[in-house]
Amino acid sequence: MSDSTDRFHSYVPREGHGLPHDPFNAIIGPRPIGWISSRSPDGVLNLAPYSFFTAFNYVPPLIGFSSLGRKDTMRNIEATGEFVWNLATRPLAEAMNQSCAVVPPEVDEFQLAKLTPLASQVVAPPRVAQSPVSMECKCTQILPLLGLDGTPSPSHLVLGEVVAVHIDRSLLKDGIYDTAAGQPILRGGGPGDYFFIEAAQRFRMFRPE
Ligand SMILES: Cc1cc2nc3c(=O)[nH]c(=O)nc-3n(C[C@H](O)[C@H](O)[C@H](O)COP(=O)(O)O)c2cc1C
Repeated sequence: MSDSTDRFHSYVPREGHGLPHDPFNAIIGPRPIGWISSRSPDGVLNLAPYSFFTAFNYVPPLIGFSSLGRKDTMRNIEATGEFVWNLATRPLAEAMNQSCAVVPPEVDEFQLAKLTPLASQVVAPPRVAQSPVSMECKCTQILPLLGLDGTPSPSHLVLGEVVAVHIDRSLLKDGIYDTAAGQPILRGGGPGDYFFIEAAQRFRMFRPE
């Protein structure tokens, strides 16, 4: 085996990465954005993006995100058990970014980002009317995230089952959902790096027989 010392920058995260910026986010990326709307028990609306987000299961459909600290979104979900995921798209990028402002819980980020709440069918938190896809969710688990040997971290994984899905019909081509047509934006690594999906980037590969 050849000596890999020169080829690789190798590091042990607990001892530091030795680079100007932590590359972790840029390597595990770009990541889909969990643009989550929720509602406090008092009825205050909340909207915030979470990029430690993905789908975890097909049937039942489960999606989730990790909250670094007990943020308003997680508190609302703990209290009410409900949230909505909204697709963040290129035309909505700036509004999505505004909705991450650190503001007190009584501030409604829909108003802050000039977005329109649209009543959901099953859950109390509204959807983002401008977003072409939304998934209404009921919380299934909130898991404290642990490091080695059970060391507590400040983060929680919030999981929910999708109980209703809304798709703008323009994204359905002959009944097939067209991922690129939605122009989803994805989070890159640096402080301001994003990517978006377009049809030219698609390639097809089928599983071996
Ligand atoms: C694109 C993007 C992705 C983010 N991802 C996360 C994340 O995965 N986890 C997290 O705790 N905060 C994340 N944040 C920061 C939160 O959005 C921010 O702390 C926000 O104020 C939380 O709002 P809330 O208190 O209303 O829930 C992200 C921000 C942006 C712009």
